[in-house]
Amino acid sequence: MSDHPSRPPQHVAIIMDGNGRWARQRSLSRLEGHHQGSAVAQDIVAAAAQMGIPYLTLYAFSSENWRRDSAEVSGLMTLLQHSLETKADELHEKGVRLKVIGERDALPHAILKTIEKVEDQTKENTRITLQMAISYGSRAEIVHAAKSLAEKVRDRRLNPEDITEQLFSDHLYTAGVPDLDLFIRTSGEHRISNYLLWQLSYAELVFVDKLWPDFTPEDFKEAIATYNTRERRFGTAA
Ligand code: IPE
Ligand code: IPE
Ligand code: MG
Repeated sequence: MSDHPSRPPQHVAIIMDGNGRWARQRSLSRLEGHHQGSAVAQDIVAAAAQMGIPYLTLYAFSSENWRRDSAEVSGLMTLLQHSLETKADELHEKGVRLKVIGERDALPHAILKTIEKVEDQTKENTRITLQMAISYGSRAEIVHAAKSLAEKVRDRRLNPEDITEQLFSDHLYTAGVPDLDLFIRTSGEHRISNYLLWQLSYAELVFVDKLWPDFTPEDFKEAIATYNTRERRFGTAA
């Protein structure tokens, strides 16, 4: 079952980490780091589309990031809303389908409206699906799936014995999107931080030392090249 080494990953997910440290190195505010990070994210979406990667998931804001000070949180929400608003047409023209994963109820009304608008505008696009993880936490996602299955069982619309891995996947925010092939985290941190725990079961992990605002399409290509050197075995003998 091992993949052919040159097969491009179908689904790449990135933890875009290091904006704060990048800003501190330059005596800038953390928010200026996030602004630079947002510009880099746009370049990476374009590079992924160009490389024919059909699914890209970017971690923009975690459920734990709500614990940051309120100025940073509101600055990030404004930045996310503004970049979605101003880049919507460009994303659409590039054939990007936007999908936001995360706990929507926690988001400010204005950003929620923008998300719904851009998701609707881009829903027929097929070149690349961009999942933006906003107010996203993987454990919360799994609990949400468990609750919706439990409700179906309670209402006698589902038998417990019919719960399979596939059915469980279909109740996650990422329903319909294939599992990760490649996980990338920048900034030298070697942890998962509550990201896509179910979906990364067999992902290849690539950690990059560069801080996210310094990450380039070349670095992205290098991470894909590293992925292509990995032998994926999915439990079979070497
Ligand atoms: C990633 O950069 C962006 C978000 C988490 C929103 P950080 O803000 O975590 O930057 P560091 O890790 O403090 O450098
Ligand atoms: C993960 O990065 C979330 C995002 C990049 C959006 P964090 O910087 O929040 O993760 P920890 O706290 O270092 O694990
Ligand atoms: Mg960080």
